Amino acid sequence: MAPNLTKETQFDAIIIGAGACGLMCAVQAGFLGKRTLILEHNDKPGAKILISGGGRCNYTNLYTSPDQFISQNPHFCKSAFSQWTVDDSIAFFETYGITGAEKTLGQLFPEGGKAKDVVKVFTDLLTNLGQEMWLNAKVLDIDTNADGGFAVSYERYGKQQSITAPSVVVASGGLPISKLGATDFGMRVARKFGLKVTETAPALVPLTITGKDLPWYGQLSGSSIFCRVWNDKASFEENILFTHWGLSGPAILQISSYWKPGESIFIDMLPDRNITELITTEAQVNGKQLLQTLLAGLYTKKFAEALADRLPIHKTLGSLSKADLETIDNLLHHFKVLAAGHKGYDKAEVMRGGVSTDELSSKTLEAKNIPGLFFGGECVDVTGWLGGYNFQWAWASGFVIAQNI
Ligand code: FDA
Repeated sequence: MAPNLTKETQFDAIIIGAGACGLMCAVQAGFLGKRTLILEHNDKPGAKILISGGGRCNYTNLYTSPDQFISQNPHFCKSAFSQWTVDDSIAFFETYGITGAEKTLGQLFPEGGKAKDVVKVFTDLLTNLGQEMWLNAKVLDIDTNADGGFAVSYERYGKQQSITAPSVVVASGGLPISKLGATDFGMRVARKFGLKVTETAPALVPLTITGKDLPWYGQLSGSSIFCRVWNDKASFEENILFTHWGLSGPAILQISSYWKPGESIFIDMLPDRNITELITTEAQVNGKQLLQTLLAGLYTKKFAEALADRLPIHKTLGSLSKADLETIDNLLHHFKVLAAGHKGYDKAEVMRGGVSTDELSSKTLEAKNIPGLFFGGECVDVTGWLGGYNFQWAWASGFVIAQNI
């Protein structure tokens, strides 16, 4: 359907934020002939899309299900994901020239392409559909109008102005990485309208180690090792990365979303094997082999050396006592980490928490008590795992809102 361009200054909805959710919302609304205006305070759209996936944009995940999302209401995302599926994301981008290539664990990236190609899909469509996007426009506030619509005040090129529309879409993202334009606007607006906000925290974020343990981690800086990392809420098998300030890598980022200060996490540094069984079997064949030699066959030299101060590496396999075996098993399979903290919003990939799902219709993402006010993307209390899940939520929520504005 052709967009409604009859009234140049009238918009069906004002969308705050030209990120993944806002861009998808504007495009889908355009397909339905609805006229939208995006207000974005950056000087370009899609700042986070551009840097995502190391500049390659992991734009969805083949295995997306509600299980990979953290929310006070784990069922909330189901409706949006049934209205806009992973296949819809794949087909949408394919239509506009981006074919997905799976890198690992279902993560889709543009085949031979870059994140900027993903943003270009949206900017081209916005132009073709006649949708408006005003950059350098910082939204300051939203108020209700006497006619039931909204007045959105914003500052552009030093001038404060206001514009009205029957619907407003808050797609202003979460708190991570303020230099890319992140603000607390979504949560601020929610509170202003009396909506609950679930406690926010950095997620998919590296963890820091301090005190007497730090030198041990520091000596391994740069070492990456495949592990199982878990706590009482979740478990992930991926690489961890040692750094001079603590731990990073995909498995640590994943578990960080389920971690709170003061809690421990555990690492199995040999997830595919049982070290006690391995030692017992080896000892039967070659009891004179040093534990050091066995470990050198399992890990890099640097890592095996770092284990030296914690294990009886100079003992032969045949001479290891029951207590020795317990120490080895504990260290390799149940390594306890008491992280001091995290690297904060400037190093986090997403925000946990946000506008409470209790306040929103899961079918439309409209605020239950404020008709015409919609929230989508990262500012809502729906947080995905690492691996393309957060974009899938942003696309899906943008699509759903477009159907309902
Ligand atoms: P998003 O943050 O994209 O957009 C919000 C927009 O609102 C921004 O452009 C901001 O400038 C604007 N805004 C805020 N306040 C405003 C105001 N007052 N007035 C006007 N504009 C305002 N996810 C994934 O699935 N795959 C991946 O590969 C990655 N990689 C990745 C790398 C890094 C380094 C980060 C930080 C994050 C990722 N992510 C990711 C997460 C992903 O980028 C994120 O979940 C989505 O961008 C969220 O989309 P939104 O549209 O909700 O917010």
